[in-house]
Amino acid sequence: MALTSVWRDRNPRPDPAGAAASGEWDVIVVGAGITGLTTAALLSRAGKSVLVVEARRVGSGTTGASTAKVSQLQGTQYSRISQRHPASVLRQYADANTEAMEWVTQFCDHHGVDLQRRPAYVYATSDSGVRSIRSELDALHRAGLESATWVDEAPLPYPISGAVLMPDQRQVDPLELLDALAADATAHGATIVESARVRRVHGHRPVRVSTEADEATGATVVIATNMPILDRGGFFARAEPARSYGLAFRTPTQAVDGMYLSADSPSRSLRDAPTDGGSLLLVGGNGHKPGAAVSEQSRIDDLRAWTRRHFPDAQETHAWSAQDYVPTRGLPYVGPILPGTDDVLVAGGYSKWGMTNGVAAALALAGRILGGHQEWASAFEPWSTRELSGLPGDLRVNAEVGFEMTTGWIRPLLRPGAGSPPAEGAGSVRLDRVGPPTATSRVSGVERRVSAVCTHLGGVVRWNDAEASWDCPLHGSRFGPDGDVLEGPATCGLRRLAAD
Ligand SMILES: Cc1cc2nc3c(=O)[nH]c(=O)nc-3n(C[C@H](O)[C@H](O)[C@H](O)COP(=O)(O)OP(=O)(O)OC[C@H]3O[C@@H](n4cnc5c(N)ncnc54)[C@H](O)[C@@H]3O)c2cc1C
Ligand code: FES
Repeated sequence: MALTSVWRDRNPRPDPAGAAASGEWDVIVVGAGITGLTTAALLSRAGKSVLVVEARRVGSGTTGASTAKVSQLQGTQYSRISQRHPASVLRQYADANTEAMEWVTQFCDHHGVDLQRRPAYVYATSDSGVRSIRSELDALHRAGLESATWVDEAPLPYPISGAVLMPDQRQVDPLELLDALAADATAHGATIVESARVRRVHGHRPVRVSTEADEATGATVVIATNMPILDRGGFFARAEPARSYGLAFRTPTQAVDGMYLSADSPSRSLRDAPTDGGSLLLVGGNGHKPGAAVSEQSRIDDLRAWTRRHFPDAQETHAWSAQDYVPTRGLPYVGPILPGTDDVLVAGGYSKWGMTNGVAAALALAGRILGGHQEWASAFEPWSTRELSGLPGDLRVNAEVGFEMTTGWIRPLLRPGAGSPPAEGAGSVRLDRVGPPTATSRVSGVERRVSAVCTHLGGVVRWNDAEASWDCPLHGSRFGPDGDVLEGPATCGLRRLAAD
């Protein structure tokens, strides 16, 4: 079964219009996910001329593969933030997410996007899980989210040790939402150019945005690519990529009546998705760093086996995978790419809660560009003294990245059989006596050789056996067997090499 999210299957994309990413604009937004399109809709409504440049298609990134719970209850995110930040910041985070959830709700109401209201649960199945959700409940109350309560039981087909419940949260089909945002932005004059990967962003006042074929200029550029594609500002050093899996199942009746997330590992995420043909059960989890030394296929198979055990009547319809970025300091970064400059802005680092945080980021960015102000926006400011005091945590992540960088170059020497031709569906990295390591794969009978050195900052890629891709363990760039970029922050493909 090809890995495709249920949303992409339900919302086939029309062919791109073939417009050029050129001209002069008030604002150029790079990336057409929830962050980029909400920003574009807000700014075009306010009368700004807006160009959106998307490498692939609207929703090709994480948003199109999200579980798309639009929720203030976010696993153990609030206790994670409260360990690193004062209560005032925790409250700002809650305010941002509350405003974003309401914004999405109103947008969906006004634009005919189906949105379901569901209770949200974070549940425990072990003593340590109970401890972590007890402290999550404390943190939620300190954040001002008083509707969060403790429950001993939840309507799940397996025993739990307790849960935190928040009533009246929301869930959507993320691509239906993105299509409505894109339509709203274009109705207000925005232009969306797809299949145009931005390679360079350079210059000041105006900023020049270059794709392979074209160049456009903007008074302001918003980099809404999840992990910023620019090395400036070192955002890749502040957040770690986290990849995880999603499965959809047809069930005879609605299998769950709420949105669930386990506090214990391995994580398990559940929600339903109403369709014309009945209800689907969505199951997510088994996350890890991309390019890790695990079989991605075994993670999917494990999630399947878990679902079969607890929902024996469920018939699988879709399987997919996606990644998001988890910042070391727990808070998204939304603001200038470098201190003191306001013409290149970035947003990302949503810790898998971007359906609200991405919208909050867009509200904050639009406010910044239009001269408005959100009380809570300072919590997301990337260059605040508070954020910079987190440098030691970032250094730890970078030490791990440095270790991976070194071992990535040595690993091919240590792995027996790395030099032999790969079997069908497999790939291996080889270090020859001269030159950088090479990556060889065989997919559908075609053997391809590319450089194994990631074009972002020189990590050595690893084979992903579930998605037939080369994934970089450093900052999560992903490439097809032919070396083409699938996901950034890399903007250029792996160098193609002649077959042996
Ligand atoms: C498995 C999974 C489940 C999740 N579930 C939830 C959930 O239930 N609730 C929730 O709130 N959040 C969830 N999230 C997180 C949420 O989906 C993300 O945080 C959010 O979608 C990120 O949106 P974005 O717009 O910032 O990035 P994206 O949606 O990734 O959009 C970025 C866009 O930029 C484009 N791009 C990249 N590089 C370039 C370039 N060089 N030039 C031009 N375009 C470029 C990409 O193609 C992409 O379309 C989940 C994440 C994962 C991985
Ligand atoms: S993604 Fe940064 S080095 Fe590969």
